[in-house]
Amino acid sequence: MDEFDASQSAARMRDAESSLTGLRERFSTPADAVYMDGNSLGVHGEDAAAALERAVEQWRELGIEAWTAADPPWFDYGERLGDRLADVVGAKPAECVAANSTTVNIHTLVGTFLDAADGERVVVNELDFPTDHYAIRAQLRARGIDPAEGLVVVESEDGHTIETDAIAAAVDDDTAVVFMPSVLYRSGQLFDLEAITEIAHEHDAFAGFDLAHSVGVVPHDLHFDEVDFAVWCSYKYLNAGPGAIGGLYVHENHFDLDPALPGWWGHDSATQFELRPEFTPAADASAYQIGTVPVFSAAPLFGTLDVVEAAGIDELRRHSVALTRYLISLVDERLPECTVGTPREAERRGGHVAIEHPEAGALSRALRDRGVVVDYRPPDVVRVAPSPYYVGYEDVWRAVEGLRVVLDEDAHLDYADESESVT
Ligand SMILES: Cc1ncc(COP(=O)(O)O)c(C=O)c1O
Repeated sequence: MDEFDASQSAARMRDAESSLTGLRERFSTPADAVYMDGNSLGVHGEDAAAALERAVEQWRELGIEAWTAADPPWFDYGERLGDRLADVVGAKPAECVAANSTTVNIHTLVGTFLDAADGERVVVNELDFPTDHYAIRAQLRARGIDPAEGLVVVESEDGHTIETDAIAAAVDDDTAVVFMPSVLYRSGQLFDLEAITEIAHEHDAFAGFDLAHSVGVVPHDLHFDEVDFAVWCSYKYLNAGPGAIGGLYVHENHFDLDPALPGWWGHDSATQFELRPEFTPAADASAYQIGTVPVFSAAPLFGTLDVVEAAGIDELRRHSVALTRYLISLVDERLPECTVGTPREAERRGGHVAIEHPEAGALSRALRDRGVVVDYRPPDVVRVAPSPYYVGYEDVWRAVEGLRVVLDEDAHLDYADESESVT
């Protein structure tokens, strides 16, 4: 086997051979930093900015007429974006819509599927991003179910990952919904959506997923895998900007369900403006829209989806896997005092890598001050996301060498290790 070459020149050679190198010209990173935080907030891109500026200009030129006269009309932004997001997540166009935020979409979809199920329990896992549990507990309480009974939390054996077998052991005939992430926000473990869906269906339960950490970087086959529903945001790997509109998917077999959180934007559009007292849901996933589409937080997604489509989600995944593999090899080679908390098998890994060290908080801050933007997830994770859209091998090399220098100089000791973490 070839010896792994950890040199900067080898990183440059890898960049020169990369098929996606041209993409990065479309993005700008703050103060030319090495930006490894694209799984929290993707960077500014010219395509997103141009799409947003177009919408602002339409507001100026057309005012209220833009709802129908803008190109594309603002009125059906959610559906139009949904049609394009369907390709990114492996769904039919009618099964997806851009709407709301991730948390709101968890509320409405978990609520809807709880109402539709025979069981009364929702199976989640202890390593989930907490907003998911907040929303699900509230939906259980709203149905008179005590979350202490109704929320079944699968535990992790190693503190990093959740085994599919452990999920299977937690599901029974009283399960209404199995709700899991596609990728764990801390360790980066990629779940087997198809296997988890099968487990849920064996018990007549529904399977739903939070795709926040995979959409735009890992291809999915939601329809083919018979996933019942899914939610995601577009401000991470989809680069649509801070607070950008969320997205959701509902399998077409469930188009007859009534949304738990109805609103006029999810009304059948043919009669929406008759403003009838009764709610008639749209006949597809667009029924889960709630209020007026937030035009300026949706418009950038038109631009960034152009980039996703031009690069191709499979090619983005190939590049992402190569970058995370390279990152893990560099950590092994250059940072013996750190451990990799992310599964090493590519098929069990999302787009980011957890580098573990007891002083991760201080290391992250020291690194940021040296121009490498990473984030800290308590208690001990430096989270590094080489987004395939704008990160190259030399950037990864710089991030690891940056950590090497901080550790060698004990520079992190200047930073009090308080917990500091943002989404
Ligand atoms: C897995 C996961 N779900 C949800 C969220 C946040 O939800 P929202 O988009 O509603 O803020 C995050 C934020 O980082 C997340 O990592």
